[in-house]
Amino acid sequence: MAILAPSILSCDYMNMQRDFTECKENGVKWLHVDIMDGQFVPNLSFGYSLVKSMRPVTDLVLDVHLMIDTPIKYAENFCKAGADYLTIHVEADTPENIRKTLELIRSLGVKPGIVVKPKTPAEAIEEYLPMVDMVLVMTVEPGFGGQSFMADMMPKVQWLREHTSPDFLIQVDGGVDAKTAPVCKAAGANVLVSGSAFFKAENKAAFVSALMA
Ligand code: DX5
Ligand code: ZN
Repeated sequence: MAILAPSILSCDYMNMQRDFTECKENGVKWLHVDIMDGQFVPNLSFGYSLVKSMRPVTDLVLDVHLMIDTPIKYAENFCKAGADYLTIHVEADTPENIRKTLELIRSLGVKPGIVVKPKTPAEAIEEYLPMVDMVLVMTVEPGFGGQSFMADMMPKVQWLREHTSPDFLIQVDGGVDAKTAPVCKAAGANVLVSGSAFFKAENKAAFVSALMA
């Protein structure tokens, strides 16, 4: 059974609380929160104040994906704001600072995760596997919702599945819909982020059960 994490980048910003409730009513357990700084990726999105505002109004797992440079500067704020998972990009800092950031996140009681962009090989995060609770394989270039799924990322997912325990969390993010989700699950992914496909789906309950199956 896979976990579905709708990306709130594609929700209705004037009706966020209604959308979170709709997620929960349809069996969703996680929400994916995309944080962009306009430097690491060519786009801006939310800051930690959104995570802080979400925390009292939803008991869903808050899965926060930091697409920001030098995450060590901001990790504490996101942890204190109420993230459950905090995922940082391996490309965003030096190996020494990546280690320190993962340690900091864990010391604050939050589950650390590590992400690879499409051009980064899975081997680049091998040394961090013992330090994290989840890995994320980007299946689009990070920065925007609504892009096409990159099926050529699946060997990376397979490599990570072979190098981790069967229930270790391997997440995919970008272009995941009812058609591409089975490809991700077959490769070994068990956490599926879906933004535009989820929020566009007419029948949310059917979408959730298809992806989580
Ligand atoms: C992209 C973000 C994704 C995005 C996915 O940089 O990390 O989480 O919201 O959106 P879709 O599912 O529309 O590709
Ligand atoms: Zn994301």
